[in-house]
Amino acid sequence: MARVVNILKIAAVGPSVAETRTWLTRAMGDDHTGYLMSAGHSVPLTEIAALLTSELVTNSIRHSRSGEGGFVQITMIDSPSDPLARNGPTLRVAVRDDGGTTLPELRAPEDDEEGGRGLFIVDAYATRWGSGSYGGATVTWFELEYRHLPLALFGARSA
Ligand SMILES: Nc1ncnc2c1ncn2[C@@H]1O[C@H](COP(=O)(O)OP(=O)(O)O)[C@@H](O)[C@H]1O
Ligand SMILES: [Mg+2]
Repeated sequence: MARVVNILKIAAVGPSVAETRTWLTRAMGDDHTGYLMSAGHSVPLTEIAALLTSELVTNSIRHSRSGEGGFVQITMIDSPSDPLARNGPTLRVAVRDDGGTTLPELRAPEDDEEGGRGLFIVDAYATRWGSGSYGGATVTWFELEYRHLPLALFGARSA
């Protein structure tokens, strides 16, 4: 099975977040059968992928220069499992914006503080995530290593 690569360039405005979710779900197509483990349950890959992508796109709109009439580019790469590296199939999403005065920074959510939870959610679900500056641009990315079947199909498991 080959890698599937999809790229979306979208105006950095609020409604683009929902549009990105639709695009991502469609782009994953037949791989809707992917599942992630979370808190002992198998959850559909597309739901978590859409949630995390929404957070990154929202950040690019709110915190980068793209929000001043620019664009955000989203790249989605779905790679099959690599037996040599012993990893499962992996979905990688990278969100590129025009950079800003801050960089993506994980902040512990505080009860009395508005916001500051987007990257916390990304950190909680992603197998790996990170960010970097490239010229004037900021790229924030995450990877979700998943499996093709929900564990529930194999019956109850203890560990
Ligand atoms: N694409 C980005 N460009 C610049 N700064 C960012 C970007 N994404 C996140 N940040 C910084 O990281 C902080 C934490 O992001 P997040 O956890 O999503 O919280 P929130 O967006 O609610 O502030 C933001 O407040 C911002 O300072
Ligand atoms: Mg945010």
